[in-house]
Amino acid sequence: MQVVICRDYAEMSSRAAHFISERVMRKPHMVLGLATGETPVGMYAELSRLHREEGLDFSGLTTFNLDEYCGLAHDDPRSYHTFMADNLFSHVNLNPLLVHIPDGAALDADGECARYEALIEAAGGIDLQVLGIGMNGHIGFNEPGTDRNSTTHVVQLARQTVEVNQAKGGYDTLPGSAMSMGIGTIMKAREIVLLASGDGKADIIKNALEGPVTPKTPASILQTHPSVVCFLDAAAASRLSKR
Ligand code: PGA
Repeated sequence: MQVVICRDYAEMSSRAAHFISERVMRKPHMVLGLATGETPVGMYAELSRLHREEGLDFSGLTTFNLDEYCGLAHDDPRSYHTFMADNLFSHVNLNPLLVHIPDGAALDADGECARYEALIEAAGGIDLQVLGIGMNGHIGFNEPGTDRNSTTHVVQLARQTVEVNQAKGGYDTLPGSAMSMGIGTIMKAREIVLLASGDGKADIIKNALEGPVTPKTPASILQTHPSVVCFLDAAAASRLSKR
């Protein structure tokens, strides 16, 4: 695992975006796994700028987002479909036919999860997966206790996750369940980029990167992946002992 400690959020966002753009230029038809949340917003802004000002070409990419809430229409303002449209998809030249997010509105949620996992396999697997980390160590929506071999599945969200995401979005309500790539799906990605910023992530980053590998801290499994790069700002890295 490689850990890159950045001065602040802006530098973390820029370095992560440049890391991804370098991979895209090297393999224009790569399969890129995408994440939602506050953390990658700056990285998506920089990727959008690289497209607008420097011609970074997204047209050959296939993308798979990690997760989506169950029961939300694509145009619901709380959906990750909306988040991705606002923060990335409307700013770059991705081919809409090659962009994938679990369909939270699907009536057969389990069937949708199986379809999504099969689509990832049919695309040849994920070359590079971007991850944030939850306050409880979740990656995607894989909450503590999730099986390390799990594939895309329906998740009952932890109460803390729903509360944190309601507060961040300023929403009165959010669904209590979601569809998420599994830990097994994520671990099959050939390369992983983990992003974290801010004091509030310092404890969970220490646990995930330097603590025991345990299902209690889902992100700790990344210690066993052969190719992970963590971009952290100084605040998120502040409790690491091996700095
Ligand atoms: P955040 O969310 O980027 O908004 O902190 C991360 C996560 O919950 O995975």
